[in-house]
Amino acid sequence: MKNPRVKKILLALLVLFVLIQFVRIDRSVPKYESSHDFAVVTHAPPQMEQRIKSSCYDCHSYETHYPWYSQVAPVSWFLRKHIKEGRKHLNFSTWGKVKHNTQLHLLEEAYEEVMEGEMPLRAYVLMHGEAKMNEAERKELAEGFKQIYLDMGGDPQTFGEEDEGEEHEHEEHEH
Ligand code: HEC
Repeated sequence: MKNPRVKKILLALLVLFVLIQFVRIDRSVPKYESSHDFAVVTHAPPQMEQRIKSSCYDCHSYETHYPWYSQVAPVSWFLRKHIKEGRKHLNFSTWGKVKHNTQLHLLEEAYEEVMEGEMPLRAYVLMHGEAKMNEAERKELAEGFKQIYLDMGGDPQTFGEEDEGEEHEHEEHEH
């Protein structure tokens, strides 16, 4: 490397990279009751339980499995943010403590997010092959959420009502 300035910049970046490794992410979880877990409370079918555990629980529960790169800043900071945000919106570990109406709402949301392929987050699927779903699997999972909604006495008439569009009602056969 001939240019001394480039060399200096690279060295500074390297030092910075090493230094930020000292900013560790918080992986602690509060005490929680396993009896409040979504699968336990809703009696979700085993297949659905397995699906959400491999596709959603890393961000939407206290049972997060941290991959090796979650040790490396700044990647760790992004993961931490997703997990924190994800748990804030929906935490399968504390499902049993959520108000009935909120549960119904979350089931509707989950149906939509999965149906539209918004969840799991794309970046997550890139790194987690097992979280990937084809269209049939997405539909199956979404229908699973809907079934639980119905089992809980949710109104089939208003299911997904707040949805902005009928995008997924006539998605395929139009040109
Ligand atoms: C990589 C982390 C990650 C994974 C994996 C993930 N989510 Fe999310 N999820 C988030 C984040 C972050 C948000 C909040 C911000 C947003 O909506 O994008 C969110 C929001 C949601 C919401 C919206 C809740 C609300 O209040 O409107 C639902 C429902 C949801 N996720 C369901 C799922 C389901 C079901 C799965 C598995 C099939 C899943 N997510 C997988 C990170 C994740």
